[in-house]
Amino acid sequence: MTAAIHVEDLVKEFGSTRAVDGVTMEVPAGSVLGLLGPNGAGKTTIVRMLATLTRPDGGRARVAGFDVVTEAHQVRGRIGLTGQYASVDETIPGWDNLYLIGRLYRLPPRRAKALADELLERFRLSKAAKKLPRDYSGGMRRRLDLAASLVGDPEVLYLDEPTTGLDPRSRLELWDMVRSLVARGTTVLLTTQYMEEAEALAENIVVIDHGRVIAEGTPAELRGRTGGQVLRIRPDRGADLTEIARQLSGTGGRSAVADPDEGLITLPVGGQEELTAALHVLTASGVPIDGIETHTPSLDEVFLTLTSGDPADDPRRTA
Ligand SMILES: Nc1ncnc2c1ncn2[C@@H]1O[C@H](COP(=O)(O)OP(=O)(O)O)[C@@H](O)[C@H]1O
Ligand SMILES: [Mg+2]
Repeated sequence: MTAAIHVEDLVKEFGSTRAVDGVTMEVPAGSVLGLLGPNGAGKTTIVRMLATLTRPDGGRARVAGFDVVTEAHQVRGRIGLTGQYASVDETIPGWDNLYLIGRLYRLPPRRAKALADELLERFRLSKAAKKLPRDYSGGMRRRLDLAASLVGDPEVLYLDEPTTGLDPRSRLELWDMVRSLVARGTTVLLTTQYMEEAEALAENIVVIDHGRVIAEGTPAELRGRTGGQVLRIRPDRGADLTEIARQLSGTGGRSAVADPDEGLITLPVGGQEELTAALHVLTASGVPIDGIETHTPSLDEVFLTLTSGDPADDPRRTA
């Protein structure tokens, strides 16, 4: 399979901050990659380099077979970008925006008109064709951004946090629209802060934090990284939670965490053996138990586990 996006050891520095610190990744043609990371992780900076809007300080990137630095012009002709740097003009109607972008792409007037109609229809904006984007709802505005990014019929589309700030319904609508794009063969690089969104749309996920790749794989593989299940134990009131947690921590090499406020102890358990061992320890301790349950961590819990680093250890700070 050919890679639509090929990134090798990409670096971007802002002063003493390494916003992107040696990122390597590949996006097969026709697939969706979810680039997942918290605020400030470096997602937008990566997208901007791949969109030729900012120059890498190190490493290489090829998009649709072209180098983003030495063949930036060819790259620009093959990509679409929506998100924090969308090109929609707030002061002219939605239809006119799409028409003008079509003319910028040197489409003949008749073709640009037809395309503006077609895109508004496809993104359910026909009724808002003559309205100004600044009067659109958040969901409509994002749909117009997405429509605008498709005027050039891009092979590769960057969606930079396309649903941040949208209500749940508009988010689901946008997800459907992204899916239909992908069904047409467009390669998508989607950045998001939500594991749920990455899982809904992407077959592969790259998790970044502090400009570095900290995990990658399919959603199922990432779930597996935390060890599968979490055991939650609620001892009787008055029990010494810290002491029980200490004993449980000896069972499987993972740490049990005591939460005195909630009266809970939680312990990640990798498999049946660890679960059985933990239950043995509990029984042997003779502590009366109020409740006990296992639960599968949500993807957002997995994400939090993966990204919970001490800011003091931030490897980017060189000064
Ligand atoms: N133009 C810039 N000048 C200085 N620092 C920047 C600039 N753009 C981004 N940064 C810094 O780079 C890091 C990554 O930012 P960004 O790529 O916007 O992250 P994300 O999109 O994941 O939220 C942050 O620490 C941010 O403050
Ligand atoms: Mg960003």
